[in-house]
Amino acid sequence: MAVNHVYDDSTFETFFANPPEGLEFDALDRSRIPRHISCIMDGNGRWATAQGLSRGEGHKAGIVSLREIITACVRLGVEVMSAYAFSTENWHRPAAEVNLLMHLFAQTFVDELPLLKRENVRVVFLGDISALPKRTREVFEYGLNETAHHTGMVLALAVNYGARAELARAARLLAEDVAAGRTTPDAIDEAAVASKLYTAGLPDPELIIRTSGELRLSNYLLWQAAYSEFYITSTYWPDFDRWGLIDAILTYQGRDRRFGGIHE
Ligand code: IPE
Ligand code: IPE
Ligand code: MG
Repeated sequence: MAVNHVYDDSTFETFFANPPEGLEFDALDRSRIPRHISCIMDGNGRWATAQGLSRGEGHKAGIVSLREIITACVRLGVEVMSAYAFSTENWHRPAAEVNLLMHLFAQTFVDELPLLKRENVRVVFLGDISALPKRTREVFEYGLNETAHHTGMVLALAVNYGARAELARAARLLAEDVAAGRTTPDAIDEAAVASKLYTAGLPDPELIIRTSGELRLSNYLLWQAAYSEFYITSTYWPDFDRWGLIDAILTYQGRDRRFGGIHE
């Protein structure tokens, strides 16, 4: 599987040339692209099993999809793209699969960093990356520093992320602030909680895409998803591509977002 690309010199027009028949690509309203698109990248294992491959091959194929969707989001002018790569519950998988994923994360990040830099992407991590194996952690920290000054799209990678752990951590940080006299219980409002989440400073996702057909959040962005629109496709993540993303955005653009109000 070719994971190592030197760079991608596509423009919006060349990247989105030749849309498949049946997709209303011309109906895309480029002035109403979600600011933050989030992907729950699910189905790598089932994709692999369905073709007689190992789950590891599925994860490798999933990286190729991730790269395509990152490029698509950059070309679309998305401000923030986030992706759920490894949950706090995924540690329960067999050690061999966890090790393979951690190795793959580190290797892919090394391979893809030149492209991310060329595209002016700023990488941030959601989750506790200090608990990752040494090499993966070091590569991630290197990438964080190398892209910290970038002003293009923010790529938020959720690795060792769980929304409940994130909320418990926010509560702990706020309690520490109270104990140290930096704030008072009365001053703790929604903005104060949001400021202690891994996503502090980022807009909430307007659109959350989940592949492989599962109808659940799996401990992802419980706070931030309060008013997100969901797009679920039965396509497995390795088969999800730029056109699937366009279909998700077209679906989003057809939704009536009321935020508890009434239809206009
Ligand atoms: C998603 O694919 C990737 C990770 C959770 C790391 P899965 O590995 O969950 O694939 P399925 O759901 O078993 O098919
Ligand atoms: C969610 O997928 C987590 C990631 C995509 C990283 P899972 O495969 O872990 O979720 P469940 O087990 O089907 O809920
Ligand atoms: Mg899964």
